[in-house]
Amino acid sequence: MASDRRIGVLARHLGVEMDSQSHSANVISASPTSGFQANSVFSHVVRAPEDPILGVTVAYNKDPSPVKLNLGVGAYRTDEGKPLVLNVVRKAEQQLVNDRSRVKEYLPITGLADFNKLSAKLIFGADSPAIQENRVTTVQCLSGTGSLRVGAEFLARHYHQRTIYIPQPTWGNHPKVFTLAGLSVKTYRYYDPATRGLNFQGLLEDIGSAPSGAIVLLHACAHNPTGVDPTLQQWENIRKLMRSKGLLPFFDSAYQGFASGSLDSDAKPVRMFVADGGELLVAQSYAKNMGLYGERVGALSIVCRNADVAGRVESQLKLVIRPMYSNPPIHGASIVAFILKDRNLYNEWTIELKAMADRIISMRRQLFDALRARGTPGDWSHIIKQIGMFTFTGLNSAQVAFMTKEYHIYMTSDGRISMAGLSSKTVPHLADAIHAAVTRAAYN
Ligand SMILES: Cc1ncc(COP(=O)(O)O)c(C=O)c1O
Repeated sequence: MASDRRIGVLARHLGVEMDSQSHSANVISASPTSGFQANSVFSHVVRAPEDPILGVTVAYNKDPSPVKLNLGVGAYRTDEGKPLVLNVVRKAEQQLVNDRSRVKEYLPITGLADFNKLSAKLIFGADSPAIQENRVTTVQCLSGTGSLRVGAEFLARHYHQRTIYIPQPTWGNHPKVFTLAGLSVKTYRYYDPATRGLNFQGLLEDIGSAPSGAIVLLHACAHNPTGVDPTLQQWENIRKLMRSKGLLPFFDSAYQGFASGSLDSDAKPVRMFVADGGELLVAQSYAKNMGLYGERVGALSIVCRNADVAGRVESQLKLVIRPMYSNPPIHGASIVAFILKDRNLYNEWTIELKAMADRIISMRRQLFDALRARGTPGDWSHIIKQIGMFTFTGLNSAQVAFMTKEYHIYMTSDGRISMAGLSSKTVPHLADAIHAAVTRAAYN
């Protein structure tokens, strides 16, 4: 019978033994799925743990409680707790959609040329000498993460020092991105738990003892997770030290405009390093400041000594990108270029950006006041001193676990909370939870 023959072929394919009389009955009665599972070529694969940051949302989504609160992921929410699409983004998208001349052809390997030019201008400043001297190469990448990865892959292939120093603590993805790109990761002291501020002395000592030429990852502003940034004077000292030792700065700029509400102020540390004529890398993300999280829009810029080097560096960046994802997506970069090019939209963007930054600052004040009103033990002034999207509360992992279990508040186990996920309505709930966590001895 034809069906018997087909079953026989399938059985041989699956490595099932049978005699010619009984095979049809055997195969039909056996569960086909159990056979597949037993023979999977992937049966040795162990389940990986959830990503420590994105896993917070996975756990949050499973919680049926109506009072649950997700302060884990760094995504902006309105005071009603809703995700926000900026008005300027909606306007730009509408106009892009209405423009029938736009097509969906591939972008070049380096991305949208206008987007690259405007992104460099945004971070380095309109009158940047490095841009005027054509010694910056900028390539469009997949948001901040992709820009870091492309930069790191380039360094691993073409830079003489493979060691990168990252702050302790830092964004959890940094060590993975750099290690997988082939760099060797070391840390420098950054945060002082006693003051909940910068460990400036430790930072200078560690960077000062790095081998000559080492790469140093610097958060351009709004350090994640601590919310602690060096002052401009401290940045100047860091710059002098790094330049004197020939260390290579790699800036991660994921929050330009989000820290102070001003795009120019937040770019000052990067511009200080560019002004001295030295070389550096910058990874930019438009996830937070334009709310384009899922569009994956970012840029990697490498500032070089001269235009000739910049051109050669760009040619090698293409060789990094081409086998990775060929070329970047067109939609998000078109939105950004449209907004950055149009004076009115740009101005509107800066107003919306400032409103987001101000709402976060007001959440800091409200949470601080709420803890003070409850008489919560401890000094909570770091909540208003820290900057950007996150507050590094100082709560320990047991206290965090308690707040999740008893109050359905989700956050990373290092005690980091996203201020952008908080609203006037949810501040009291969070303050109650923190108060309970720090006053119950068992969790201290
Ligand atoms: C410090 C830092 N760098 C880079 C990123 C990368 O974000 P994205 O890839 O979404 O632009 C983030 C996101 O949270 C971040 O906090």
